[in-house]
Amino acid sequence: MASRYAEVYQQWKSNPEAFWAEAAKAISWIKPPTKIFDGAAGVYGRWFPDATCNMAYNALDRHADGGRGAQTALIYDSPVTNTKRKYTYSELRDEVATLAAVLQDFGVTKGDRVIVYMPMIPEAVIGMLACARIGAVHSVVFGGFAAKELATRIDDAKPKLVLTASCGIEPGRIVKYKPLLDEAIRLSNSKPDAVVLVQRPQETAAMQDGRDHDWASVVAAAKAAGKKADCVEMAATDPLYILYTSGTTGIPKGVVRDTGGHMVTLKWSMENLYGVKPGETFFTASDVGWVVGHSYIVYGPLLHGATSICFEGKPVGTPDPGTFWRVIAENDVVAFFTAPTAFRAIRKEDPNAEYLKKYNLPKFRTLFLAGERADPPTLEWAEQILKVPVVDHWWQTETGWCIAGNPVGLGLLPIKHGSPTVPLPGWDVQIVDEGAKPLPDGTMGSIVIKLPLPPGALPTLWQNDARMKESYLEEFPGFYKTSDAGYRDQDGYLYIMGRTDDIINVAGHRLSTGGMEEVLASHPDVAECAVIGAKDALKGEAPLGFLVLKAGVTRDRATIEKEVVGLVREKIGPVAAFKTAVTIDRLPKTRSGKILRGTMKKIADGDAWTMPATIDDPAILDEIAGALKGRMV
Ligand code: COA
Ligand code: AMP
Repeated sequence: MASRYAEVYQQWKSNPEAFWAEAAKAISWIKPPTKIFDGAAGVYGRWFPDATCNMAYNALDRHADGGRGAQTALIYDSPVTNTKRKYTYSELRDEVATLAAVLQDFGVTKGDRVIVYMPMIPEAVIGMLACARIGAVHSVVFGGFAAKELATRIDDAKPKLVLTASCGIEPGRIVKYKPLLDEAIRLSNSKPDAVVLVQRPQETAAMQDGRDHDWASVVAAAKAAGKKADCVEMAATDPLYILYTSGTTGIPKGVVRDTGGHMVTLKWSMENLYGVKPGETFFTASDVGWVVGHSYIVYGPLLHGATSICFEGKPVGTPDPGTFWRVIAENDVVAFFTAPTAFRAIRKEDPNAEYLKKYNLPKFRTLFLAGERADPPTLEWAEQILKVPVVDHWWQTETGWCIAGNPVGLGLLPIKHGSPTVPLPGWDVQIVDEGAKPLPDGTMGSIVIKLPLPPGALPTLWQNDARMKESYLEEFPGFYKTSDAGYRDQDGYLYIMGRTDDIINVAGHRLSTGGMEEVLASHPDVAECAVIGAKDALKGEAPLGFLVLKAGVTRDRATIEKEVVGLVREKIGPVAAFKTAVTIDRLPKTRSGKILRGTMKKIADGDAWTMPATIDDPAILDEIAGALKGRMV
């Protein structure tokens, strides 16, 4: 079948408002939009400014009452606890309505923030949807972050309530969430009124009188009293959630997602990009702490009336590299979405895909990869073993859905390894030089997107329009700066090659080297430091720290290096995967004092490098090469 992509993209380009007005018909509005876009509102305009709606209604009630009540909405599959559980649309709606009533009893109302700090258990999904039901703004914080990171988010979001669990389960260890949460609340200036906690059998958390409440008890009491909350009418432009993501400093950015536009584009993407039909099963192996989890574990599949999977496990080791194949086979999964690093992990353990031979996947049609650059060897391997199209697609926390992909539902375009294919409707992607001048095909440059951004993309940062403008809109006037660099080929295919800022991508997790440098610099023996993302065969990139010690420090270097590794784990969290710090006598700098991180990275990666013309003292680079010998983990 010939792809309809070109025709559909052109339809959007010739009349974006008509295009999104048509897509909006797939949503159940309380008040349908009469105005599609208001260019004068907000930082760069707002979508569906006069419409009202409710996300939980569209994700649950609409299906529960519309013939899908008995269909499975959510499957919880947890190889780390040997648990499988299914919720129909009716059951999930009832659980969500009950928890929403509990939240209301705690005084949570429209516009209040709720932090969700939870492992991959169904209560995390129920918690997010319960907030959406009553118009509370959730902010999910990934479990791999340390107390200080959680505290920063609590201080910015100022939540009325926190939803949490006693622990997460990582292979070989229990991660106790409650002490981390208690410490975060202690560190933060803003104190939530209440904490509602799922006590898991693996760990019983100590509860603080007055503030902490047992999830099971409060829900049981609400059920006994027959309490259920109705869906609250929300403006399409009201925030659904805040999701914090790494910025170029240690202070994360609070990406805001509005309600109406997000529904429209997620729903559109389910059919047209992912090629999934209502009633089919879509499996996204990520975490609700990341944008991929928000969009395609929780909201996208449920808006579409599909079945989604909440998977609590890892690609390998829980218990083996066949775990994804098992989940796909057992649940008739049609489309599977994960990060390339997961496939690198599976390939490393099971290069001949022996575990795959144990399963039949007759319904499985497409593998989607995102979160980091899909390296062609991994992609080719995945194609060979799965014998289905492997679709790389590019997006960001900020965008909420895919910028460039291969629209399976519109008809697959030829796949080119190394390219996430073409911009989707909504995205006018351009490659420009420093002066915002378009560059010819094949030339690397900054990737920018012509404003306005489409529905579903961030309207602003939480209570910080100024940072929104400064971070994304000022450098290239009229455009959104993606901070990715890349090029377009003569067929219009995009190639996303790396970041232009200090963000690195470790196992599909977005991290700020600037944030890590702040931690290293806080060590009393460290005078100066630099952190770069060095090539890593499994995780794509791994952070590598360089330390210059203060004059007169005589303590053992190895001890100090170990201490800073511990400090990053303590302050940022295990997710930073910061394992190596190397002490050197001085950092390579330009004559104007800029640290030459790019050259340091090339040396660490073993890539060819040339002596920067502006370097202060060329001998330093040899010192770095020497210091790194035998040190890379
Ligand atoms: N809670 C607490 N700790 C967590 C955590 C969580 N939710 N998730 C990860 N961690 C910890 C890990 O246990 C590990 O700790 P360690 O240093 O004690 O070993 C550390 O954070 C680093 O985790 P990770 O980078 O995930 O490495 P890993 O070695 O545990 O696993 C992979 C490697 C490839 C299997 C894993 O990274 C993976 O599944 N990646 C998929 C990526 C993904 O889903 N990305 C989301 C965007 S699509
Ligand atoms: P996050 O906000 O965590 O989703 O990370 C977004 C960043 O990850 C992007 O800016 C890219 O640098 C990178 N990224 C995500 N998906 C891809 C992809 N398919 N190809 C290349 N880079 C990607």
